[in-house]
Amino acid sequence: MIMPNLMKLTAIVAMTPERVIGKDNDLPWRLPEDLKMFKRTTAGHPVVMGRKTWDSLGKYKPLPGRQNIVITRDESWTEEGATVIFSPEGLQDLELQDEHVFVIGGAQIYQLFLPQLDEMIVSHVYKNYEGDTQFPEFSEYFSEYEVLETYEEFEVRRYFGLQAIYNDIRI
Ligand SMILES: NC(=O)c1ccc[n+]([C@@H]2O[C@H](COP(=O)([O-])OP(=O)(O)OC[C@H]3O[C@@H](n4cnc5c(N)ncnc54)[C@H](OP(=O)(O)O)[C@@H]3O)[C@@H](O)[C@H]2O)c1
Repeated sequence: MIMPNLMKLTAIVAMTPERVIGKDNDLPWRLPEDLKMFKRTTAGHPVVMGRKTWDSLGKYKPLPGRQNIVITRDESWTEEGATVIFSPEGLQDLELQDEHVFVIGGAQIYQLFLPQLDEMIVSHVYKNYEGDTQFPEFSEYFSEYEVLETYEEFEVRRYFGLQAIYNDIRI
């Protein structure tokens, strides 16, 4: 998969030290400050998510002010407020709200897009929570990070570097 050069792809995720991100198709924690940061950061941009994450949003879907793009293999799938694609490549055929696209999970969709990301915004939750869904190992993809914000229960980092260089030279 090669994304158009004009598109910027950022993943945004909250994870524990063991990279746990979900439990029973929900978040394992309640961190209102993280939800506010997520909303601030993604406002006005397209968000790409897996069908299970879409389902997990319950009454909060579609996420307001953002083009909600949902990936599923089910070609008959349709829901109000969702723009549907059937593969990551489908993203390239869409008319996007904005060229800065956020990949918002879950684990399967992070895994699909990881090699194509320009950067990641990660809320590192200090406490360990039990869960059934884990973010993939990502250290090989980024050479640098900066701390953006710190809170009592988590720290927000932006990962970048290495991969952006690869992305610049891809043809
Ligand atoms: N901590 C965080 O920041 C964060 C963020 C987001 C989500 N989460 C959590 O993550 C969990 C959900 O993650 P998940 O990995 O189970 O599910 P997911 O990635 O949200 O969605 C998986 C679904 O995406 C579709 N899909 C996957 N690969 C595809 C491909 N190659 N082509 C087309 N469609 C494809 C399939 O949908 P169909 O089955 O319809 O074909 C698949 O069942 C939940 O617990 C959620 O709360 C956490």
